[in-house]
Amino acid sequence: MNALELMKKRCSIRNYASTPVDSEKLNYVLEAARVAPSAVNYQPWYFLLIKEEKNREKLIECYPREWIKTAPMFIVVCGDHNQSWKRPADKKDHLDVDAGIVTEHICLAAAEKDLGTCIVCHFDMPLLKKNFNLPESIEPVVIIPIGHPAETNLFEKTPRKRKTIEEIVKQETF
Ligand SMILES: Cc1cc2nc3c(=O)[nH]c(=O)nc-3n(C[C@H](O)[C@H](O)[C@H](O)COP(=O)(O)O)c2cc1C
Repeated sequence: MNALELMKKRCSIRNYASTPVDSEKLNYVLEAARVAPSAVNYQPWYFLLIKEEKNREKLIECYPREWIKTAPMFIVVCGDHNQSWKRPADKKDHLDVDAGIVTEHICLAAAEKDLGTCIVCHFDMPLLKKNFNLPESIEPVVIIPIGHPAETNLFEKTPRKRKTIEEIVKQETF
């Protein structure tokens, strides 16, 4: 599978089998996260792994949707505002840019290993910080449920809806 085929394979999976993610595949995904680029190479991230039942419940409390309960585990992509790059000219904090890139590394590596993921940001951020004792400077940016899709053909059958190249590409000037 080439890079574009892998990118087209990845999609949001919102129904998982209870089968655990084996440690070899998980390590592969984490290695993909480790090598991600970041502004000034500051790597301002931590990856909180949640598998134990009592912690799964504490996580689901932050994003109480039926579908997410099916996920056997979660990776919470956390960013450290004390380590992220701020552009000197306007002080823009690039934490979210870095977190977005590393999140996609994780999702693509998972898809390569036939693991489903979904990028989840619509969660109760203060509650997640509290439930998992995150220090003040650390922001949980993305929750990634990860696991085997409940049906083997979910990768193929999930619809992809995207704008056309003509709609999104501007030539030379806006
Ligand atoms: C920054 C970001 C936040 C998202 N937050 C959520 C979310 O809270 N809940 C959810 O079900 N999907 C969420 N998604 C998934 C998007 O809905 C999904 O990626 C988009 O519809 C495209 O579908 P695809 O991932 O299957 O290609 C999020 C995606 C991104 C990139």
